Amino acid sequence: MNNRLILTSLSPNTEKDDIVLALKLIFQPWCWKNPTLELEKKFQKYLNTKYAFAFNSGRTAFLAILKSLNIKKGEVLLQAFTCNAVVNPIIKAKLKPVFVDINKDTLNIDTFDLEKKISDQSKIILVQHTFGMPADMNKIMEICQKYNLILIEDCAHSLGAEYNGKKLGIFGKAALFSFGRDKVISSVFGGMAITNNEEMAKKIKEYQNKLIQPSCFWTFQQLLHPILNNFLIIPLYEFFGIGKWFLIFFQKIGFLSKAVKNEEKQGMIPDSFAKKLPDKLALLALNQFNKLEKILKNQKEIANFYQENIKNYNFLLPPNTLGRIYMRYSLLSKNKDTDKILKKARKQKFFLDDGWRKTVIVPPDTNQEKLGYQASSCPNAEIIAKNIINLPTHINISKEKAKRIIDFLNKNGN
Ligand SMILES: Cc1ncc(COP(=O)(O)O)c(C=O)c1O
Repeated sequence: MNNRLILTSLSPNTEKDDIVLALKLIFQPWCWKNPTLELEKKFQKYLNTKYAFAFNSGRTAFLAILKSLNIKKGEVLLQAFTCNAVVNPIIKAKLKPVFVDINKDTLNIDTFDLEKKISDQSKIILVQHTFGMPADMNKIMEICQKYNLILIEDCAHSLGAEYNGKKLGIFGKAALFSFGRDKVISSVFGGMAITNNEEMAKKIKEYQNKLIQPSCFWTFQQLLHPILNNFLIIPLYEFFGIGKWFLIFFQKIGFLSKAVKNEEKQGMIPDSFAKKLPDKLALLALNQFNKLEKILKNQKEIANFYQENIKNYNFLLPPNTLGRIYMRYSLLSKNKDTDKILKKARKQKFFLDDGWRKTVIVPPDTNQEKLGYQASSCPNAEIIAKNIINLPTHINISKEKAKRIIDFLNKNGN
């Protein structure tokens, strides 16, 4: 793929075989086998869990989990510095999100602030493993037991990561995974709910059965995403950023879909959003899942390369915790004007902005108040949102590309 340009987003993990598959699926009228079931079975086996159910996104998987718990009223504690796609299902389930501050090193929930924010309305703790870094599960499980709270893991960033030698996703009552466009593996849209709890599994299955398939056009839009991005949009980023305008144009005319709809940024997830995972997207996800070890190996090599070679003390490097994966390599800049650094990077054709910046509920144009966040209630998360720079680690990042980013960072940043 393009040698000069470096992008963190826009179907970053797609290789030639993924694009050829997407093209083939556009012209293939239907699937003969049941790839969605196969994907669910592979997840069960990989994570050593009893039940796995596929959906059109991680947010639908989370909504299915929440509905299966049948809690009519109460609070869900979750970390700030999260995605609006995870807050909206809480609101949709008529529960209240309560935001907890984060630990500045791990970017995961701060267990001291967590205990402070527990009230008699608290029912659930949702634990996010940010960018593949395992949260402090021993402490969190202890807190859940002490206050009789339900633990759910948000593994949207952490497929394949481990804690105490066990894969993340099996520590709570249930977990959700995402195959969104910039995730560890991607089918552009897609997600999975897993559980070992028989009663919950029965309810999640009932919910999944009731959902309809997305329209053929919606599936077509998703299949088109890696194709248009790789053949048109990304190459055209080279020319004065024209690719970006093409992306906006294709989204405007409805050829490509947005990762997050405008109403979701205002705390409203349309009823019609929750759907089954179509078989064609399950095939894309399966193709990526079969390459998971290769994807994770590349992530680790690139992260180690960054770790060894970034020598600019204006950047704080992330902890190299055992079991973690690197969906991103997150730097914290001591410089107050990270926008300036990113702008300079763009001039050298590194598009390092993946949307995880500026606000504690991303994307940055999210109306945080409408999603229940009170300004200044999570100061660490607010500081991190200002100072973070996420370096790409995806399969199309070679050491040569990483070296260009490193050379840039070693010269800039103060
Ligand atoms: C931390 C986190 N959790 C959950 C989700 C929801 O996943 P999806 O986009 O597949 O609905 C996202 C998505 O961006 C996320 O970043």
